[in-house]
Amino acid sequence: MKFFVDTADVKEIRELNDLGLLDGVTTNPSLILKSGGSIIEVTKEICSIVNGPVSAEVAATEYEQMMKEAAVLSRIADNICIKVPLTLDGLKACKALRSDGHLVNVTLCFSANQALLAAKAGATFISPFIGRIDDTGINGMELISEIRTIYDNYDYQTQILAASIRTVNHVKEAALIGADVATVPPATLKALVKHPLTDKGLETFLADWKKTGQSIA
Ligand code: G3P
Repeated sequence: MKFFVDTADVKEIRELNDLGLLDGVTTNPSLILKSGGSIIEVTKEICSIVNGPVSAEVAATEYEQMMKEAAVLSRIADNICIKVPLTLDGLKACKALRSDGHLVNVTLCFSANQALLAAKAGATFISPFIGRIDDTGINGMELISEIRTIYDNYDYQTQILAASIRTVNHVKEAALIGADVATVPPATLKALVKHPLTDKGLETFLADWKKTGQSIA
């Protein structure tokens, strides 16, 4: 499973990339707002840190303007992945951008039929929003499972990018179902390593090692 980090916080991205944990980055207008920077400058800096795809989202809702914005965003760096919303104009833009050789992430997916349309438009990634579905009282993971089945039925190459991930359990469940990628907030990504028995075991080993009086290096 590939790990993307869902943030536009350059400091966090640098730290996670240095750990060797990152396969890519996803941003969106809300995350750019939170970063406090300009979309062009922030995205350029992120692209200089991470080798994998960096999703940058168009703000337009109409096809022509989406294509103009995509042209600007794609000039930022070679690893830009254009993010478009799951609308008819977004799907049309997806098809055109893929024909031009760009990576495309179709975002704001909340149903299996929407994911089917994105695959037919040739999307590189489809982003189902797990946490936001959970918020409505429906199990978001069922959507990942449905999309996995549909894509496997027809051998669609669109990668399932589990988004709106809120918990470490979301990551585990998405991996069990076979999502290709999870885009995860920095704190949740770092929390994946935590287990109380690891901490307890390490404490005992260190105490016993001290008693041996030895040193390795
Ligand atoms: O990048 C899109 C998605 O991950 C948003 O997550 O937590 O705002 O629902 P959230």
